[in-house]
Amino acid sequence: MKKIKIVGNRELKGRIEVSGAKNSVVALIPAAIMTEEKVEIYNVPNISDTVNLNNIIELLGGKIEFGNGILKVDGKNVKSMPIPEELSVPLRASYYFMGALLARCKHVEIYSPGGCKIGSRPIDLHLKAFKKMGVSVIKEKNKFVLHADDLHGANIYLDIASVGATINILFAASMARGTTIIENAAMEPEIVNVVSLLNNMGARISGAGTSKITIVGVDRLHGANIETIPDRIEAGTFMMIGALIGNPLCIHNIIPEHVDTLIAKLRDMGAKYKIDGDSIIFEKVEKFLPVDIKTLVYPGFPTDLGQPMAVMLTQAAGISNFEETIYESRSGHFPELIKMGATIEFDKMYAKVSGPSNLKGTEVTATDLRAGASLIIAGLIAEGTTKISNIEYILRGYEDIVEKLKAVGADIEIIDE
Ligand code: EPU
Repeated sequence: MKKIKIVGNRELKGRIEVSGAKNSVVALIPAAIMTEEKVEIYNVPNISDTVNLNNIIELLGGKIEFGNGILKVDGKNVKSMPIPEELSVPLRASYYFMGALLARCKHVEIYSPGGCKIGSRPIDLHLKAFKKMGVSVIKEKNKFVLHADDLHGANIYLDIASVGATINILFAASMARGTTIIENAAMEPEIVNVVSLLNNMGARISGAGTSKITIVGVDRLHGANIETIPDRIEAGTFMMIGALIGNPLCIHNIIPEHVDTLIAKLRDMGAKYKIDGDSIIFEKVEKFLPVDIKTLVYPGFPTDLGQPMAVMLTQAAGISNFEETIYESRSGHFPELIKMGATIEFDKMYAKVSGPSNLKGTEVTATDLRAGASLIIAGLIAEGTTKISNIEYILRGYEDIVEKLKAVGADIEIIDE
């Protein structure tokens, strides 16, 4: 079994480059099949989610060229083929082929998406919106058959500002007859990035980044290029590592506004940092203050940084209260951190973290992607050796994380045992 082995308690020095955003690219790739012409996506991370989406495009008849962060998609021969369970289940974002294929072919057959088990993660809002747009939705066991004879615009209010539902509606609405208005739309930077690609392809979308997005449907889209934004969650993960053991550690290729809630919390904790354009440089401090964290949709504190943040809180002198508000079961990291010596009381979506704790290396298991990231941070600051299993979760979302940390002085490697 592959494991990540870390010998902790070392200072890190140098510069870490942030890759393109996983949660952008997983939508940009399916968007590329909405046209018969070629689409190029830059700054694409080489992670297993990218590979899995490319496999789906090839199954549908598209051609893929991928290397050096550049992904070229030629969707000329794309047809709406059934997407089997073995391709839809390895990741969450397979559901973006629902909206993309509805736009292109008006017909989709696909199994339920997978992804990290951090809550029930229904897709009812996606399906409700599709139905409003004239799509018939048939569910047979785990398989969805979506068909539209007349895909048309609609006024859609999202009960939850869901990233996935907003993007799926954007896809279908871009090539629907008439106008769609999404109210209470998600406002994440990844939505803005996806809309930039769609508009570059000839879509007519306004309001991305606000809670009201208007889409005027067009008959066809054309080829285009897009640069993937930097991954604010990867950046945030490295920023916490920088705050804890950087001396100095520069995190490069960040968009400061995309991580400003994290910066605010690190500032309140007493972290020492300097922002310099698209870099943030951390120096070590001796003591952190406790803070309270409540995860929220953007621009609130991101749920995807909640688990890494739990490790920061174990190093603060005093009690920090933590509340997760998006996912019911994003707590798989707590028992593992407790095993490493953290003092954490938790119940479902709440936790009370008392610190500072001297973490000690041991055998731990990543229960999901961001839980895995939190265990890497814990391993880096712990005394002794930490071995993390289930590392496939981590490699799904963090490009070259082991190599990046090793290059700045971490004692970290992938082992087989
Ligand atoms: N929700 C519903 N019904 C729906 C859709 C969502 O009830 O139809 C609920 C979910 O159960 C959840 C909340 O709304 O409680 C948020 O769901 P959202 O649709 O925003 O999340 P997602 O599209 O499933 C994406 C990212 C997540 C990230 C969230 C929030 C991808 C592939 N996934 O998920 O990323 O946490 O947005 O920012 O883009 C991660 O990277 O670790 C990760 C989990």
